[in-house]
Amino acid sequence: MKPLLTSVRQIPALPSSIGWLAALVAAVAIFTLPGSAQEKPAAPTPAAETKAESKKPAEYIGSEMCASCHEDIAKAFQKNPHHVVETDKKRGFETKACESCHGPGSNHMESMSAADIRNPLKLRPAETDRRCLTCHLNQPTNAGRINSSHAKNQVSCVSCHSIHKNGPNGLVPRKATDINQLCSGCHTDVWASFQRPFKHRLPEGAMSCVDCHNPHGGVLPHMIQTANANEPGCFKCHGDKRGPFTFEHAPVRLEGCSACHQPHGSANPRMLTRAEVRFVCLECHSNLPAPTLPANGTLGTVPPAIHDLRSPRFQNCNVCHQKVHGSYVSRDLLK
Ligand code: HEC
Ligand code: HEC
Ligand code: HEC
Ligand code: HEC
Ligand code: HEC
Ligand code: HEC
Ligand code: HEC
Ligand code: HEC
Ligand code: HEC
Ligand code: HEC
Repeated sequence: MKPLLTSVRQIPALPSSIGWLAALVAAVAIFTLPGSAQEKPAAPTPAAETKAESKKPAEYIGSEMCASCHEDIAKAFQKNPHHVVETDKKRGFETKACESCHGPGSNHMESMSAADIRNPLKLRPAETDRRCLTCHLNQPTNAGRINSSHAKNQVSCVSCHSIHKNGPNGLVPRKATDINQLCSGCHTDVWASFQRPFKHRLPEGAMSCVDCHNPHGGVLPHMIQTANANEPGCFKCHGDKRGPFTFEHAPVRLEGCSACHQPHGSANPRMLTRAEVRFVCLECHSNLPAPTLPANGTLGTVPPAIHDLRSPRFQNCNVCHQKVHGSYVSRDLLK
């Protein structure tokens, strides 16, 4: 796992252009500075000065003011989905969209100091999330966000969403290859599993992590994507395994698919957890002490005496037990 902070993008030290207003403000600052310095007993450090200034509550100044100094960002913002915040009365930030995320900017306009403006990239992750969620909380995609493993591990909205950057990995990565690149940047070990011989076709760009995971969190463990309300997302594509079957195979329903499969990729055909089908079955269906039992596994019944496990005939369990995911007709999952 790569340390989190490496994903933090570089912030240019200065905006690309400073308009007339900057000059004006700078001039005002030159005249007022000696005065304010006199009021302080000891020679203040620049940092202390900024702090004293920022004590007066900042006010909203409107996006046009921001644009006068941050021309490039303001121009690009015209095409940002957040531009509706600028024009739409309902959202409460009409004509001051910039400040919906950055907070009121009057102090910053005067001081032109980074310390006087909120930069979501530099806040504590929980603070950043809170800013974004003031507007995005009710979107279904974010339900469960508060509980997600990302939220608990300091991965905030801006680790994955770059507000001002456009391009393939801009505000929202949509192409499968872009999403996979984003996720595997941190989850290198998971990506390695997809290089195994039997796997879902992520490296080919045919699928992406968000087909199975909701990066914003969810109701199932491991942020598993849901299909049809609360079923695992696997059923979106493997609907034939859903049932309900007349005769269920308990682990399919209870432990879930990963009792027998490694969905990220496996050295074994059908992405099974074991090299041969019988070893998968015998993990649960044997009377041996089972050190390899899956974490929350339930032991099944021991195969009846007709099963001579030394005979090759009985070694391919699924030659006879064809419906290992559940059957409509056979209690013994034979057909
Ligand atoms: C008078 C010119 C001026 C105006 C007006 C202005 N800024 Fe800035 N802004 C600057 C300068 C200069 C910097 C670079 C400060 C630094 O790097 O220390 C900056 C930096 C920033 C940063 C980066 C802070 C960081 O942590 O690196 C943000 C965010 C920002 N401005 C947002 C805004 C917003 C939002 C507005 C409008 C409410 C605005 N600015 C208005 C001059 C201005
Ligand atoms: C939806 C929230 C949001 C809105 C709206 C928004 N910003 Fe930002 N801004 C951010 C975030 C988050 C960052 C941190 C860098 C990033 O993720 O792109 C940032 C970074 C910045 C920076 C630092 C320089 C940089 O490229 O990192 C400046 C300057 C800035 N914004 C100015 C503006 C201006 C001007 C507007 C209005 C035209 C605006 N922002 C609107 C969220 C927002
Ligand atoms: C003032 C309200 C507001 C705030 C604060 C806000 N957003 Fe948004 N966001 C919107 C609106 C409005 C849209 C346009 C789409 C929509 O109607 O949902 C949007 C769209 C988006 C989209 C989706 C764009 C798409 O193509 O579907 C993303 C991603 C996003 N915002 C992320 C963020 C992040 C990250 C933050 C915090 C840094 C943030 N937003 C803060 C209101 C907001
Ligand atoms: C771990 C990475 C990650 C984090 C953290 C993250 N997102 Fe996303 N977000 C994505 C990806 C990937 C998509 C595209 C999902 C898709 O195509 O199904 C997305 C899509 C979105 C969308 C578009 C709506 C949609 O479902 O199509 C919005 C809005 C959004 N995210 C907001 C947020 C907000 C707000 C936060 C913080 C509370 C956040 N995201 C945190 C990766 C992330
Ligand atoms: C900035 C780094 C970063 C990015 C980008 C990122 N993650 Fe994570 N992710 C983490 C961290 C840290 C954890 C918590 C530690 C762990 O389980 O490895 C985590 C945990 C997870 C978990 C485990 C949840 C659990 O409860 O076991 C899943 C699933 C996950 N991430 C999926 C994704 C997906 C899908 C994407 C891309 C949309 C993504 N991550 C992008 C850092 C990241
Ligand atoms: C075919 C569905 C599927 C795809 C695609 C998928 N996952 Fe998973 N992932 C799962 C399942 C199921 C689990 C839970 C495994 C378990 O229960 O042991 C999981 C578990 C995880 C975990 C937590 C446990 C672990 O193995 O570390 C992380 C992190 C994770 N996935 C990240 C990713 C990332 C990143 C991608 C994209 C590169 C991805 N997953 C693609 C199905 C998938
Ligand atoms: C977006 C659709 C999609 C989702 C979601 C999905 N799969 Fe798949 N799965 C496929 C496709 C397509 C194949 C065939 C891959 C190939 O032939 O390369 C496949 C193949 C498989 C195979 C191997 C079949 C074989 O013949 O080798 C298994 C096992 C499997 N998936 C299990 C799962 C599990 C478990 C989940 C949920 C954690 C899941 N899948 C989620 C699309 C999906
Ligand atoms: C009790 C173990 C077990 C569980 C649990 C299980 N499978 Fe399987 N699955 C198997 C075995 C064994 C095979 C190989 C059958 C073969 O080789 O003919 C298989 C094959 C598959 C195949 C490829 C062949 C086919 O029938 O389409 C897919 C897809 C698949 N499983 C998906 C799933 C999904 C999705 C789940 C979760 C709902 C799941 N499996 C749960 C044991 C299991
Ligand atoms: C994760 C543990 C687990 C694995 C792996 C597993 N089973 Fe099961 N199996 C069970 C449980 C639990 C039951 C239901 C309890 C019982 O045995 O009656 C069951 C029931 C059955 C039944 C029906 C027996 C009955 O009494 O209704 C058959 C047949 C069966 N399993 C065959 C297989 C085959 C073949 C495999 C390998 C592809 C396999 N099982 C893998 C746990 C497992
Ligand atoms: C040649 C066909 C065949 C093979 C191969 C086979 N079985 Fe069976 N199995 C059966 C039949 C037939 C029954 C039903 C027996 C009965 O009702 O008395 C059965 C029943 C079972 C039962 C149900 C026991 C019960 O109490 O209802 C389990 C569990 C089981 N087999 C597991 C396995 C496992 C594990 C393997 C692989 C090591 C396997 N079988 C291989 C034919 C086979």
